[in-house]
Amino acid sequence: MTPKDGPLHVAIIMDGNGRWAKKRGLPRTFGHREGVKALRRVVESAPDQGVGILTVFGFSTENWRRPVAEVSELMNLLKTYVESDLDRLSREGVRVRILGRRTGLKPDILEIIERAERRTAGNTRFLLQVAFNYGGQSDLVDAARKFAEAVEQGRARAADLDETLFETYLSTTGAPAPDLIVRTSGERRLSNFLLWECAYAELVFQDVFWPDYGPEHLKSAIAEYAARERRYGGAASDDVLATG
Ligand code: IPE
Ligand code: IPE
Ligand code: MG
Repeated sequence: MTPKDGPLHVAIIMDGNGRWAKKRGLPRTFGHREGVKALRRVVESAPDQGVGILTVFGFSTENWRRPVAEVSELMNLLKTYVESDLDRLSREGVRVRILGRRTGLKPDILEIIERAERRTAGNTRFLLQVAFNYGGQSDLVDAARKFAEAVEQGRARAADLDETLFETYLSTTGAPAPDLIVRTSGERRLSNFLLWECAYAELVFQDVFWPDYGPEHLKSAIAEYAARERRYGGAASDDVLATG
């Protein structure tokens, strides 16, 4: 079946900030700052394009391997983005949720994350999820650990574990899985993003560095998605017609 409707949930691996800056002879941090502007443009236009949930990859559990100054710039950008945009997001009915491990984040970052989530908790028009200090593998390990603790404490039983129950332990719980995962910059890999949730997502790779991304690129990713046939393991719809 070709999706008649656009994707409800779009997830984006915002990649290419460093290369965008390098091409211009600028430090990588300039690319990250321009990347925040691209994020703003996309968040702004997503609801008009029929998207209800946007999940963006802001900082991976592997990004700690980068130089200290770059890591601290990325931390700082999360903080300044939330500080400058929270009022507007909250007014516009956007619920903000930060996915990923809280351990290892400094108190000022934790404070801003909690403030953003608390302030927008009642909003229902649009969900913006920022994966920050997020890794698909660590999210799965954390979920397994939480479930094991529940079993140890007698709150859960191993025999009851199924996909639906397991999902409730992931940091993405409560939101449907992404319909479409986009990666910019030309790289064709998931880099530890949404490893459980990607099971039946359509993947679109776009050859544009993230700081250059805008509503027109989102539109073309959605058009590519709309031309796909999602089968979920079933037979192609015309084959079904042919075999009755
Ligand atoms: C994406 O851009 C931003 C983050 C990973 C935080 P990169 O910084 O990975 O840019 P490239 O891939 O080096 O060009
Ligand atoms: C993935 O991009 C992480 C984010 C976009 C935040 P990376 O640039 O870190 O991924 P690799 O290292 O190219 O796989
Ligand atoms: Mg990269």
